[in-house]
Amino acid sequence: MPPNSESARPDADVILSLSDVRVHFPVKAGVFKRTVGHVKAVDGVDLDVYRGEVLGLVGESGCGKTTLGKAILQLVRNVTGKVLYRSDDKDTDLTGLDERGLFPFRKRLQIVFQDPHSSLNPAFTIFGSLEDPLKRYGVKTRKERRKIVGDLLEAVNMRPEAMDHYPHEFSGGQRQRIGIARALSIEPELIVCDEAVSALDVSIQAQVLQLLMDLKQSKNLTYIFITHDLSVTEYLCDRIAVMYLGRIVELCDAEELYGNTLHPYTEALLSAIPVADLDRKSKRIVLEGDVPSPINPPPGCPFHPRCRYAQDVCRTVVPELKRYRSDRGDHFAACHLVEAPEAD
Ligand SMILES: Nc1ncnc2c1ncn2[C@@H]1O[C@H](COP(=O)(O)OP(=O)(O)OP(=O)(O)O)[C@@H](O)[C@H]1O
Ligand code: SF4
Ligand SMILES: [Mg+2]
Repeated sequence: MPPNSESARPDADVILSLSDVRVHFPVKAGVFKRTVGHVKAVDGVDLDVYRGEVLGLVGESGCGKTTLGKAILQLVRNVTGKVLYRSDDKDTDLTGLDERGLFPFRKRLQIVFQDPHSSLNPAFTIFGSLEDPLKRYGVKTRKERRKIVGDLLEAVNMRPEAMDHYPHEFSGGQRQRIGIARALSIEPELIVCDEAVSALDVSIQAQVLQLLMDLKQSKNLTYIFITHDLSVTEYLCDRIAVMYLGRIVELCDAEELYGNTLHPYTEALLSAIPVADLDRKSKRIVLEGDVPSPINPPPGCPFHPRCRYAQDVCRTVVPELKRYRSDRGDHFAACHLVEAPEAD
């Protein structure tokens, strides 16, 4: 059972429950393309997502955020562990399903990528791109599809006539709105937003974030909001999960994370945000070096080569993600130096 499971929040309605999720990509070498190792992109993630929340997923480049997002949607297929999706009071493990079995879930789970080019075919008009999922999910007549696409474009604050134009005719912000319209087209319940605003100018970012929040309210959506920008998540997210080398190292309420940071990695990430953005004083902690290779992660605590508090135990024993209590709900952290959690 995930450490932040329902027992920790009995009133909450879990929409998605991950247990020991791993995604290891084989590394091949030599003329015979033998497998010589594995990139442990996601390496044992336990996580519950609550219906209606915005869960931030943060961490440096290469820590496995996108791969975890794709694992949830089964866009990578070498996923082990369990990805339980709850709908109509029934849990379904998506990892056990073939493409046919996944079909009804593909419509409930959607992803918005950083680069809308990846979801919009440059050779198709916007209507051509947006009608495709509608066709697959049974909207039979072209007239109906045009009506729905027009409504979707209006929902993302664009004119319905935009549907007859091509992607290159729009700005980055407009293309991202169209990408969001496409994700919404078959009425999903959960959307993974993967760096959905990172490529946009700051002023446009704010508009698109506001749009995402308005849509969440009006359409009862749940978001997993992937970003490496911790100054965005504080205001947007209900809870935040911090990832390092394929694992979650800290997870709690967003205000709690910023006000009562437990993990040294989170502390370093937060200290890198300009003080003006955060309305608080903080001393910058320089994170030495890059994230180590996920092919040969360091033994013990994977963060120990860069941790300014590392002790002997950190070099040999992997710290578990343990539950601590706080006024703002459960707080999980994986660090030997955090004081012993309260017993259940
Ligand atoms: N298809 C793949 N084959 C092999 N390795 C991969 C594959 N996809 C991702 N990886 C590796 O897995 C690790 C995690 O990558 P991922 O893209 O999930 O990180 P990320 O946290 O989303 O990074 P970023 O912030 O740069 O988007 C990286 O080391 C990456 O090189
Ligand atoms: S377990 Fe040790 S190395 Fe890892 S974060 Fe905690 S103090 Fe640092
Ligand atoms: Mg990514």
